[in-house]
Amino acid sequence: MSEPTIKAKRLAYVRVEAPDTARAEEFLEEFGLQLSARTGDAAFFRGTDPEPPCYVLTKGSGGVTAIAFEADDMADLEALSAIDGASAIETLDEPAGGKIVRLTDPQGMRVEVVHGRMALEALDASPAHRFNMDGKRNREGELPAVTHGPSQVKRLGHLVLESAIPHEVYEWYNRHLGLQTSDAVRTPDGSPQMIFSRLDRGEEYVDHHVVGFQFAVDEGARVQHMAFEVGNFDDLMSGHDYLKSKRRKHVWGIGRHRLGGQIFDYWANPWGVIHEHWTDTDLVNENHEPTDTSIADLKDYWGPEPGPGFVVSRWNFKAVRNIARMLKARA
Ligand SMILES: [Fe+2]
Repeated sequence: MSEPTIKAKRLAYVRVEAPDTARAEEFLEEFGLQLSARTGDAAFFRGTDPEPPCYVLTKGSGGVTAIAFEADDMADLEALSAIDGASAIETLDEPAGGKIVRLTDPQGMRVEVVHGRMALEALDASPAHRFNMDGKRNREGELPAVTHGPSQVKRLGHLVLESAIPHEVYEWYNRHLGLQTSDAVRTPDGSPQMIFSRLDRGEEYVDHHVVGFQFAVDEGARVQHMAFEVGNFDDLMSGHDYLKSKRRKHVWGIGRHRLGGQIFDYWANPWGVIHEHWTDTDLVNENHEPTDTSIADLKDYWGPEPGPGFVVSRWNFKAVRNIARMLKARA
């Protein structure tokens, strides 16, 4: 197999537009991201991890308009700038600085690859405590360390790109950013329903997925959701209660995914853009053996089934037709 153009280091950030940025900021703070910097037209949010901001909010109606990865070095940016349709290497005129190459993937999503952004000081993360479990008394004489209020997001962990051509889109990320299949899910006719992909860091263990490539039932193209790691199960549950008290729109959860293993909880911002909290992902490396499962045989470890609000980003004739086909196969 030929070597990819680069092997991306990590997911860096998403660019998200909202028609009312004050309302969007209120949601993000309740969700557990923290404002890090502000420029004339953008607000930059971060998690508690020391990575530079992972969420760039601007005014507009486009939802998620770009996704970004970090590269290991300048040589990687040079290699990427040489591929078809890529920009030259430019200076990123934003608070974290750095250099950038701009690309467009086959589903039309803007993909930015950056290097040299300035790290931040880590912030206090959610408190942790030991659990009495499996018959072992690990927390003797200690109260559980649980805070009330928003979850404390650590970092951006993954996102799902959906389109009518998930396999073609995956191939592009595999060829240029080195993403590798962790596990795949098929529709009843054998075509890709979801390809979960991870970073290729060799023997180093990485999150089970950094990008999921999903078949969009409406055959549109977008970021279907983006997902942020929180410290632990208590922090996820505290955040759940808090978002509920703020009457935010709950989309799906709480459950534990079969593929990826995360405990998950999905929420929508006021314009329906889905933001996930998760904790405790499966970690895999180059020795992981991918599975290929029919959607009819796939069930999460526990938790509710996803509702239409998660499965269908937009209703149209194609969505109805594709869902009917999948339901028939699951019956
Ligand atoms: Fe997710």
